[in-house]
Amino acid sequence: MNLFRSASLHPGWPKPIGPIRVRAGLVRLRPVRLRDGGVWSRIRLADRAHLEPWEPVAEVDWEVRHAVSSWPSICSGLRAEARRGRMLPYAIELDGEFCGQLTIGNVTHGALRSAWIGYWVARQFNGGGVATAALALGVDHGFSGVMLHRIEATVRPENAPSRRVLAKTGFREEGLLRRYLEVDGAWRDHLLVALTVEELQVSATAALVRSGRANWA
Ligand code: ACO
Repeated sequence: MNLFRSASLHPGWPKPIGPIRVRAGLVRLRPVRLRDGGVWSRIRLADRAHLEPWEPVAEVDWEVRHAVSSWPSICSGLRAEARRGRMLPYAIELDGEFCGQLTIGNVTHGALRSAWIGYWVARQFNGGGVATAALALGVDHGFSGVMLHRIEATVRPENAPSRRVLAKTGFREEGLLRRYLEVDGAWRDHLLVALTVEELQVSATAALVRSGRANWA
């Protein structure tokens, strides 16, 4: 009984996903791990100005929150949520190196079969198709491995690069959520975008390859 319960709680986890090749290199997703702490902290501290305008506020100061010593509890918390079947927290790897995160969260099964998806990529690798490849891999895995029916995301209207990433992957705008999330010192409007499995003619990664934006690895 226990075995059955644990298997059915987190379909699709902790399988690595990909790789797929884009301009920047080879992109794949794999579960976050404790030894990501050093590189995670280095990037998050260096890229504060690049990341903070788009992320929910937290009570703890950015520097403290992103110290190497903060990672073990963050990572364990994410992995505990994954074991309960509620989340799939991935590291995005570029040519085998940690370069960002993609998370599928609030995973709901039953008649809803829905989740949200979110991501960030280190500034130094931006513009090479990494986020788009990661999102396509995450979407395909969400619809196949996790057996979701709908994946949604929220994005600030001002976040043009992220809106482009979502549009390239086929996400459709559903509306504007007023004062939705406290970000960067104020309650910010967010666009709600979504994709259901029926909307994909082929997988999201196959569509990227067909459009010439990626190659099979
Ligand atoms: N206006 C319009 N488009 C832009 C702009 C701009 N100012 N800047 C970049 N772009 C386009 C690029 O040209 C590219 O599109 P193209 O391939 O058609 O040329 C696209 O935006 C970026 O695509 P990728 O290269 O796949 O994305 P990248 O790896 O650079 O990562 C990301 C983009 C994730 C937004 C990164 O900049 C980042 O981490 N930003 C900070 C955190 C963040 O915003 N995360 C997303 C929050 S919303 C969410 O998670 C649903």
